[in-house]
Amino acid sequence: MEVVIVPDAKAGGELIAEAMAALVRRKPDALLGVATGSTPLPIYEALAAKVRDGAVDVARARICQLDEYVGLPAGHPESYRSVVLREVVEPLGLSEAAFMGPDGSAEDVQGACEAYDRALAEAGGVDLQLLGIGTDGHIGFNEPCSSLASRTRIKTLTEQTRVDNARFFDGDIDQVPHHVITQGIGTILEARHLVLLATGEGKADAVAATVEGPVASIVPASALQLHAHATVVVDEAAASKLK
Ligand code: F6R
Repeated sequence: MEVVIVPDAKAGGELIAEAMAALVRRKPDALLGVATGSTPLPIYEALAAKVRDGAVDVARARICQLDEYVGLPAGHPESYRSVVLREVVEPLGLSEAAFMGPDGSAEDVQGACEAYDRALAEAGGVDLQLLGIGTDGHIGFNEPCSSLASRTRIKTLTEQTRVDNARFFDGDIDQVPHHVITQGIGTILEARHLVLLATGEGKADAVAATVEGPVASIVPASALQLHAHATVVVDEAAASKLK
């Protein structure tokens, strides 16, 4: 695992966007796994700027989703499908056809999870997977005590994560779904390159446990220690509890 400390979130976004651009220059049809939440926004802004400036052509790149709420109506603005289309796919000038994600409104949720794992494999696997980290150390929505070998499946969000995410639902925790589909930790570990960005002091404990603690399901992100090519990019505040 490599740890890169950057001065601030903007610098982290720029660094990771350049890594994504370099990958797409090498492999134009790369499959890029994206995360939602606040942290990756500087990455998406920096990558979209590179596309506008002609520094990289992403026309053949493909985008895939890490996780999805279960039970939000189709087209809900906070479904992760809507969020990724709005924040990543459209700013990059890609069409919806370039994008794949799990079906959070499927009647057979387990079938949708298995279908998504198959679809990722059939697409050739994820080349670079972006990750954020929860204050409790989750990646995707693999909450503490998720199996490190887990596959894409339905999970129940912890109260803490629902509180953290209420800001996307007018601050109203009652609107935050209780369940999500998330790529499992085993699924995430199959991506060729994992890139986790963490910014702000609120992530400092989770980052320290991820990087310097034992590999343990109580800190799902610690599974990155098992990956041959994992990069953790942190700003100085998120790095403040590293030894
Ligand atoms: C969302 C996801 C989550 C977030 C995490 C941090 O797709 O995978 O693991 O990355 O909850 O969220 P922010 O960045 O909003 O602090």
